[in-house]
Amino acid sequence: MPPVVESSLAVKADFPIFARRFGGRELIYLDSGATSQKPQAVIDAQAEHLRSHNANVHRGVYALAQEADAAYDGARRKVAAFVGGRPQTTIFTKNVTEAINLVAYSWGRANVGPGDAVLITQMEHHANLVPWQVLCRERSAELRYLEVDERGELSLEALERELARGDVKLVAFAHVSNVLGTINPVAEMTARIRAAGALSLVDGAQAVPQMPVDLQALGADFYGWTGHKALGPTGIGVLHGREELLERMEPFLTGGDMIASVDLQSVSWNELPYKFEAGTPPIAEAVGLGVAVDYLSALGMEQVRTHERSLTAYMLERLGEVPGLRVVGPPEAERRGGLVSFTVEGIHPHDVAELANRGGVCIRAGHHCAQPLMRCLGVGATARASVGVYNDAADIDALVDALQAGREVFGL
Ligand SMILES: Cc1ncc(COP(=O)(O)O)c(C=O)c1O
Repeated sequence: MPPVVESSLAVKADFPIFARRFGGRELIYLDSGATSQKPQAVIDAQAEHLRSHNANVHRGVYALAQEADAAYDGARRKVAAFVGGRPQTTIFTKNVTEAINLVAYSWGRANVGPGDAVLITQMEHHANLVPWQVLCRERSAELRYLEVDERGELSLEALERELARGDVKLVAFAHVSNVLGTINPVAEMTARIRAAGALSLVDGAQAVPQMPVDLQALGADFYGWTGHKALGPTGIGVLHGREELLERMEPFLTGGDMIASVDLQSVSWNELPYKFEAGTPPIAEAVGLGVAVDYLSALGMEQVRTHERSLTAYMLERLGEVPGLRVVGPPEAERRGGLVSFTVEGIHPHDVAELANRGGVCIRAGHHCAQPLMRCLGVGATARASVGVYNDAADIDALVDALQAGREVFGL
């Protein structure tokens, strides 16, 4: 018997997209790792902002502009509080990709040079790999990788060995892998990194939407995440940074709003966090993200984690019934976020996704923006099913039914 899904979340009705039908069938969405669906409250908040409170921010004295300021800065306060951060050190970006690039450009170009190393891991999304590769190439530094073991986990001993070489300036790693699902031991890693005199950057794209995140407890120097995976709109991401570092860093992008004063030949920067927010920011998107974190907080992030862990346990168990199906990443749901990547012997992952689609189920197939990891796993691609707060056991049953039916189509 598969494990019981021990969660009382039943929130599908809050997400209007689930009213849609595809060929008369319900939408079964198991691709929240790519982007989450949006609750009505988020959609309404953005529309209401545009309808009734729209003005540019930080430049108008009239009442409407002050409403827009209050909405934008209020959203920042909520987003910061959601992860135990402070508004001054919470920077809005376009997405987590931009958040990581901000650090790679602003901190990296000033602090990494010949003889230095940046350490990342084999499980990184390209967003947390390519910016470091480009930085190291440009600055003649070395880019090194922590290996992923056969369980899909990192080794703290290997981290210590790398740090002991004495040349590592920064370690960048995912909180939760978007392919393996592995939850990395962030606090244990950042403590070792700090003790070695290096900085840490954590990519929280897959973690913030599905588990309690407390920046103080995690101890990272930089922590980035992306709004659209956390029930919020696209076009907004977040970078939290340690204040002394952000104060010392030069801006990433320059232009309006991020300056204190400009002369013909000189300029001084605005205070944090505005120094890093050049140009008109994503105002309605920030408002939407503020409501998304309100929504998640009202559910309770412990509850969200229980829901996703228990659905993942159910998914691991049920996928195990499909002959020839191989799961990558840690075998226990306890060690994973809410996603499972897998291959099915004799069926290409893209065909697996198409077979799921025929059963009305949305899953993703491909390299998941992690080509080096695919090579380590010895596969070109995997299929990936990922859950959100709105999923239930029936969604996973539908996936398994579609895969079983698909095997018959392939004569397996
Ligand atoms: C672990 C991880 N990092 C980074 C990203 C990139 O997110 P975005 O495209 O919103 O910048 C993703 C998205 O797939 C991800 O899963």
